[in-house]
Amino acid sequence: MTGAVAGLVLSLGLIAPSVPAVAATNYDIDSASSQQVVVNKHRALNPASYVPATLVRVQGERLRAEAADAYKQLAKAAKADGVNIMPISGYRSFSQQASLYDSYVRQYGQTTADTLAARPGHSEHQTGLAMDIGNASGTCALQACFASTPAGQWAAEHGPEHGFIIRYPAGAEDITGYTYEPWHLRYVGKALALDMQTRQMATLEQYFELEAAPDYLP
Ligand code: DAL
Ligand code: ZN
Repeated sequence: MTGAVAGLVLSLGLIAPSVPAVAATNYDIDSASSQQVVVNKHRALNPASYVPATLVRVQGERLRAEAADAYKQLAKAAKADGVNIMPISGYRSFSQQASLYDSYVRQYGQTTADTLAARPGHSEHQTGLAMDIGNASGTCALQACFASTPAGQWAAEHGPEHGFIIRYPAGAEDITGYTYEPWHLRYVGKALALDMQTRQMATLEQYFELEAAPDYLP
């Protein structure tokens, strides 16, 4: 096919141009320090021992500065709507994540533990960009019923306006490898969070056309 004919075929819409469905190339999803880093069971942090350069305190928890600023804005906006959102767990170091994961393994066995907590080096909490939130009342803390509480509903609807997504949505366990976590907010920046909402793409794996990561690789 000559260039001119190819152009005509494309302009007539006969062949879809081979461009990604999304502008994935605009984002760095590999560097641990990137706001858009994608961490899952197939994509460990690099290095696995990554520690953010700067962490700031937010009501007793820690986040990277940009995520902390966005979180404060989110909590303020929620409060203006009469919803009191509280931080439960923000940054966790490799060793803190290891303790948490090990405690789940002891409590539930490894198979179930792997659906609830990431192994160290594989957690978004280690990036300083994730915050588990709760209601000030404590209702449904870290339980699926959190989704239908005021804080859960507000965060799902308005999180993207502040750059946060619900990283482990309902029904996406085959993709993310984790059960529904309506409390786990991941900061990805407003542009990406809003684009995911507009395109109705529930997970980062789908948005960036990455393979599903339900289990760790052997
Ligand atoms: N609960 C999430 C998957 C974590 O441990 O990072
Ligand atoms: Zn979490």
